[in-house]
Amino acid sequence: MSGDDVVVRAAVPQDDPERVFDVLWQLAPGDSRPDADRLACAWRDLHAQAGRRLLLAVAGDTFVGTLDTLVAPNLTHGARPYMVVENVVVAPTWRRRGVARVLMLAALEYATAAGCYKVQLVSNAARTEAHRFYASIGFAQSAVGYRRYLTTAP
Ligand SMILES: CC(C)(COP(=O)(O)OP(=O)(O)OC[C@H]1O[C@@H](n2cnc3c(N)ncnc32)[C@H](O)[C@@H]1OP(=O)(O)O)[C@@H](O)C(=O)NCCC(=O)NCCS
Repeated sequence: MSGDDVVVRAAVPQDDPERVFDVLWQLAPGDSRPDADRLACAWRDLHAQAGRRLLLAVAGDTFVGTLDTLVAPNLTHGARPYMVVENVVVAPTWRRRGVARVLMLAALEYATAAGCYKVQLVSNAARTEAHRFYASIGFAQSAVGYRRYLTTAP
């Protein structure tokens, strides 16, 4: 990316989930931090899931952004898969330097290589700055999204 030494790569099991969470926490400061065992367990499950690729933007040895992708097998649209994007976040001091753009371009490249017919995401209605980012990279607000939060902890 222009001017900045930021590299985008897929996370690997050897990465430290605590450091990845430090970036993700910027999505919802105030969110409680999972204990180390729970985080490690989720990290293992994530890497074991077929079609899952968590992208990291790395500057030196610092994680400055992340974007999570899942390629889902599908029976419609000629049985072509689709990609769901989730947890897009860039560390505050790194914003407006093209980091999210490079992350999303990497996701689109992965989706294209996987034969996906669409890349889809939902974003909280209040995140208007993020909406401007998605529009800047070619995403259209062409659907009405629904979500239902489940509050019962396992
Ligand atoms: C949304 C977010 C990921 C954008 O990351 P970023 O690295 O700053 O975005 P980029 O620098 O790649 O921006 C690319 C383009 O998107 C648009 N854009 C990005 N942030 C914007 C903002 N705050 N206001 C207006 N336009 C914005 C601009 O067109 C920008 O190009 P420009 O800087 O040349 O004008 C980042 O602001 C963030 O982490 N926000 C908090 C978490 C969040 O809301 N995540 C989305 C959850 S759905």
